[in-house]
Parts: sequence; structure tokens; C-alpha cells
Amino acid sequence: MRRSVGDIDFIGSFPGELPELERPEVAFAGRSNVGKSSMLNRLLNRKKVARVSSTPGRTTTINLFRVGETLTVVDLPGYGFAKVPNEIKRTWKGMMENYFENREQLKLVVVLVDARRDALKVDAELIDYLITNEIPTLVVATKVDKLKRSKRGAQLKKIREGHGLDFEQLIAFSSLNGEGREEVWDAIEGTLG
Ligand code: GTP
Ligand code: MG
Repeated sequence: MRRSVGDIDFIGSFPGELPELERPEVAFAGRSNVGKSSMLNRLLNRKKVARVSSTPGRTTTINLFRVGETLTVVDLPGYGFAKVPNEIKRTWKGMMENYFENREQLKLVVVLVDARRDALKVDAELIDYLITNEIPTLVVATKVDKLKRSKRGAQLKKIREGHGLDFEQLIAFSSLNGEGREEVWDAIEGTLG
């Protein structure tokens, strides 16, 4: 891989208040099990920085990672998991909104969507919320390795149209084979300036 990210430290796992940090932050959001933790590991070229699991809803706290000297990466809890009690859902929602609205060093939210699914309402709600709040947002269709070559163009187009995105606003990604990694880094670096 061309890009090397430098040292990575796990800063910690926070259910509530986050530590004050100066470095710019990039957060990863998306439905439970969509592949946020896997994507982080792939972007950082580490196997087990963020915990990956087959049980949806595994990441229930906000996890912060220091990447090199210049970046903090944030693994957010997944949303949209039906089996979670409503009270916990409300707590998560509050935690996320508090983070999105008050984290001054937040520079970009990467929203992961499942490449195999058409635009979902829960994802559209988050994307619209971020745009309304003027938070820079990048949408990434992950697990693209699971799409048939012949179907992929049409499927990605459907997702773009469903979320009202332009061509360059949706990046196709695979944590399995690393497709899209460089494009995501380019987009991250573009917003960091
Ligand atoms: P929560 O923390 O529960 O919200 O999940 P998450 O979004 O962090 O998902 P996670 O990275 O734990 O991945 C969920 C499952 O999807 C795991 O079994 C991964 O191996 C699988 N997975 C993630 N990304 C990809 C991908 O790009 N391709 C394929 N084929 N599988 C993937
Ligand atoms: Mg996770």
C-alpha cells in the first residue's frame, strides 16, 4: 500500500463525554454490521485496531484512535439495529447527535452504506441530518466485493440517486480487497486541507 499512516494508538472507548483533543477528527458512521470497524482496519492497514464482529451492535461506545500526529479517527456505534431496546436506541441517538453537533474538531463524517442494498431510509435520515447541520459528509458504499460485476454499475447508480448524490460523492469500497482505499484517503485529506 502506498500510504502509511504512522503510529496508531487506541485512545479509548467512551459511552459519554469525550476527552478534549486538538487534532482534527474524522468519524465513521453507519448501520450496525455495515462494516465500519472493518473499513477502519483496512484504511489504517491494521488487522485489529477496531473490533470486527459478526454480532450486529457490537460497537456501543464512541471509540477514538490517534493516527500519526495529525488525525483522530472515530468509530461510532452502529444504528438501525432492530433488536436493541428503544431506550438504548434513544441513548445512542442522543450520544451521536451530541457528538455531531458539539465536536468542534470534527472535519468529516464518513457514512457507510451497504453496496448490496438500495438507499435505506435510516441512512438517508443520517445523511440529510448531517447536510442540514452543515457537517462535511462522504458516503461510501462498502462490501462492494459482494456485488456481481455485471450489476455493480446499476446498483451504485441506484444508491447515488436514492441519496441524491453526484457521481463523485459515492465511493465504492471493499474492506476485503482494499478497493477504494486510496480514494477515501484522498477525500479525507481533501477535507483536512
Ligand atoms: P457494529 O460495530 O456492530 O456497528 O458493526 P460494524 O459496522 O463495525 O461492522 P464490522 O466491521 O464489525 O463488520 C461486520 C461484518 O461484515 C463482519 O463479518 C465483517 O467481516 C463483514 N465485512 C465488513 N466489511 C466487509 C467488506 O468490505 N466485504 C465483505 N465481504 N465483508 C465485510
Ligand atoms: Mg464496529
